[in-house]
Parts: sequence; structure tokens; C-alpha cells
Amino acid sequence: MSAPITLHLLAVVIWVGGMFFAYMALRPAAGLLEPPVRLTLWSHTFKRFFPWVWVSIITLLVTGFGIIKQSGGMGEVGPHVHIMLLLGIIMMLMFLHVFFAPHKKLALAVESQDWETGAKALNQIRLLISINLLLGLITTVVGSAGQFY
Ligand code: HEM
Repeated sequence: MSAPITLHLLAVVIWVGGMFFAYMALRPAAGLLEPPVRLTLWSHTFKRFFPWVWVSIITLLVTGFGIIKQSGGMGEVGPHVHIMLLLGIIMMLMFLHVFFAPHKKLALAVESQDWETGAKALNQIRLLISINLLLGLITTVVGSAGQFY
């Protein structure tokens, strides 16, 4: 019973912590760089971080639904789990969009040195990650402290 929740929490820390670092620390620091270097840095950063997000998402789904099954199904778990599931699915759909649309566009733009298109794609990623970071923090609070409300 303790392994699924441990993995669930590790996946949360990796995904939400990674978004927090990217948005709150790397984004303002990278703003000091010229577009060609800045966009290349982001493209390479995403190439290394996004596989971890895939691993986190799969882990969250497998462990989350595993815990629900062990608890007796959706009818037996508290409302905080229903809210977590809904917010988690929204976060995952937003990540899928980022991964397959602006992130792919950014990688292609960097490859062909089209900095204008790259900057537009990065702007979209920045907006979507800021929303997902906020949702991730809220979902973490709901998942961990929700049972006490
Ligand atoms: C989308 C699929 C998800 C499912 C099915 C799911 C399911 C669950 C379940 C059943 C629990 C145990 C709750 C309890 O026993 O009170 C749990 C705990 C938790 N979940 Fe999720 N979850 C999902 C996604 C997420 C996401 C995306 C986050 C955060 C970004 C998250 C954060 C947490 C946290 C912080 C806990 C508390 C662990 C603890 O109190 O020890 N979950 N989740």
C-alpha cells in the first residue's frame, strides 16, 4: 500500500517542481540571453525535462487508479480525490498540447534558425506552463490536505 503513494508523490515532486524551477528561476535568468541562444537553451531544456514529465504522468495514472481500486473504487474515495483526478487530467491534456504543438514547433524553428517562429512557440509554452504550474500547486494541496477540509 505504501509503494504506490510514494511513487505518486515522487512523480508530483518531479513534474510540479520542474515547472516551478523552469518558470520561476530559469525563465527570468534566460531572459538575459539573445534570442538564438535563449531559444536553443529552452529547446534543449525541454528535450531533457519532458521525458520525465511523461514518466511522471504514467506513474500518476497507474498509482492513482491503483490506490482508488484498493480503496474500493471511485464511490469510496473522498471528494478531494475526484477533484484531484479532474485537475490532473486537465494538466495532462495541457501537457499533451504543449508537447505535440508549440514544443515541436520550437524544436523545428531552432533547427532551421527561424527565431521569430521560435519566439512565438516559446511564448505559448510559457503561458501554458504558467497555467499548469498553478494547477499543479492547487492539485498538490487538494491531494495532500484535501482530506482534512
Ligand atoms: C490524474 C490522476 C490522479 C489520480 C487518479 C490520483 C489519485 C490519488 C489518490 C487515490 C490519492 C490518495 C488520496 C487519499 O487517500 O486521501 C492521491 C494522493 C495524492 N495525490 Fe493524486 N491522483 C492523480 C493525480 C495527481 C496530480 C496531478 C497531483 C499533483 C500535481 C496529485 C497529488 C497528490 C498528492 C499530493 C497526494 C497526497 C499524498 C498523501 O497525502 O500522502 N495527484 N492521488
